[in-house]
Amino acid sequence: MFNYKNTAIHYTDTGKGNAVVLVHGFLEDASMWQKTAKELAKRYRVITVDLLGHGKSECYGYIHTMEDQADMLFALISHLRLRKISIVGHSMGGYVALAFAELYPDNVRSLVLLNASAQADSEERKINRGRAIEVVKKNSDAFIQMATRNLFDDKAHKKFKKEIAVFTTQALQTPVQGIIAALEGMKTRMDREALLHFGPYPKLMIASENDTIIPIKDIKEQVENTDVSLEIVPGGHVSTIEQFQKVLDILSAFLKKNG
Ligand code: MLT
Repeated sequence: MFNYKNTAIHYTDTGKGNAVVLVHGFLEDASMWQKTAKELAKRYRVITVDLLGHGKSECYGYIHTMEDQADMLFALISHLRLRKISIVGHSMGGYVALAFAELYPDNVRSLVLLNASAQADSEERKINRGRAIEVVKKNSDAFIQMATRNLFDDKAHKKFKKEIAVFTTQALQTPVQGIIAALEGMKTRMDREALLHFGPYPKLMIASENDTIIPIKDIKEQVENTDVSLEIVPGGHVSTIEQFQKVLDILSAFLKKNG
């Protein structure tokens, strides 16, 4: 545990070498990276962390902005005496990674966004976040069940029944305050497409063909005229489950050059 402004933060730290920080998404926690971290730790020092209000980390406020999460990550890596990191974020974790890269560019060795957009929420999406908050206030378990069900298509539900059950059980641990604070934080996040154009470090985006949360069309547009590498995998939003080996291979190849 690490104490960030009187807020307990849970993290793991394994392996030796250049540092790689793995950042989970909304309703997820550090355990989603367990298998990935074990593989990467053969070559790197791998840090996984529960974001504010997720997993075993406490809530810090009623809105957890992407910048709050990035400041917490910076405090954690400073505590671990790390200077440069490769930062890998899944979905909301990608939004946090972008905020970190903007606030702390000197600390970024490379940046990987997995099923994450560099754009801010559209007006329609902001309205939906507001609606989601109302549902969470009434019945957070029902919201989590619905949200996790929507992350996977029918095929995935059949194929990854066990993994999705574990995912949902873990998501159900997320406290109401943490869920609402994350929804508010995502709703008010900034557009960071400029980083894709000007971030002075190697950048990779991994997108899924059938991602209904982050449409691949948007990602293809975002990488146009940038030096961002784009890798496309089959399946839906949670590529770390649906395409575990492919994503690991892509990450390993990228980190070998840039990690
Ligand atoms: C996530 O998976 O982290 C979120 O669904 C992303 C989002 O809602 O924008």
